Amino acid sequence: MRLNLDIDIDTHHYIKTSKSENKFGIDLDFAKRILKKKFNFVEIKGIHFHLGSQIKEVSPYIKAIEKVKEFCRKNKFQPEILDIGGGFGIPYNIEDKIQPIEEFGRKITEELKNFNLKTVILEPGRFIVGNSGVLITKVLYVKKKKGKNFIIVDAGMNDLIRPSLYESFHLIYPLCLKEGRKIKFDVVGPICETGDYLGKDREFPEGIKRGDFLVVMSAGAYGFSMSSNYNTRLRTPEVIVKDKEIKMIRKRETYSYLFEPEKI
Ligand SMILES: Cc1ncc(COP(=O)(O)O)c(C=O)c1O
Repeated sequence: MRLNLDIDIDTHHYIKTSKSENKFGIDLDFAKRILKKKFNFVEIKGIHFHLGSQIKEVSPYIKAIEKVKEFCRKNKFQPEILDIGGGFGIPYNIEDKIQPIEEFGRKITEELKNFNLKTVILEPGRFIVGNSGVLITKVLYVKKKKGKNFIIVDAGMNDLIRPSLYESFHLIYPLCLKEGRKIKFDVVGPICETGDYLGKDREFPEGIKRGDFLVVMSAGAYGFSMSSNYNTRLRTPEVIVKDKEIKMIRKRETYSYLFEPEKI
């Protein structure tokens, strides 16, 4: 049973999943009624929760496990399985403070002692791949306006939607580091939406120009997987780098691929 434990976490409100007003899970009263029911073909084996994403400290998990234990004690239910979901945060910015994962492990293990579980399941998503991937994009145009400068690049919100959707932060660097005076730019995509941006008020060398490449960091999770063909844009190729080996694991899309399903 996936429980909604009504636990708030310190993250963007679009990626909180365990507040009572969120769509996920069932509340404890409903779960209690389920436990009392006799089902012919269903056996309740365990409890699941997923608190949300990009959680920077272990305390919400401890609070959640305490709530689950109390619920089980009150309802005389011994689960075999507890699935504590994912959500383990990663640093996106240099100064981001995330409790070390070992601390998560130590405190959660401690809290689970004497709960007599057979299996504990974790669902780390972003934690594994988030900082393993980058998005490389080419500068199309540099636009200097009164009071605001823009670097317009060939990747947009269809390639990496996190900034537009969650106002999330990704570090952005020139692929080849350049010396020289730095000024502030917004790094924006080529799509016809003001929300189409990758980073705001970022320092880049003044001489950055068309044809240079930028690297958008931490794009390994919810980058390509949330990408789309919005604005008739072809999705990027994906390249894997292992030691000195480089392999294209997904080729660049083509217009014939994009239009193939359209019948009339
Ligand atoms: C049920 C469930 N488990 C795990 C995850 C992974 O979350 P994250 O990548 O933040 O660890 C999600 C993400 O939405 C989820 O809905």
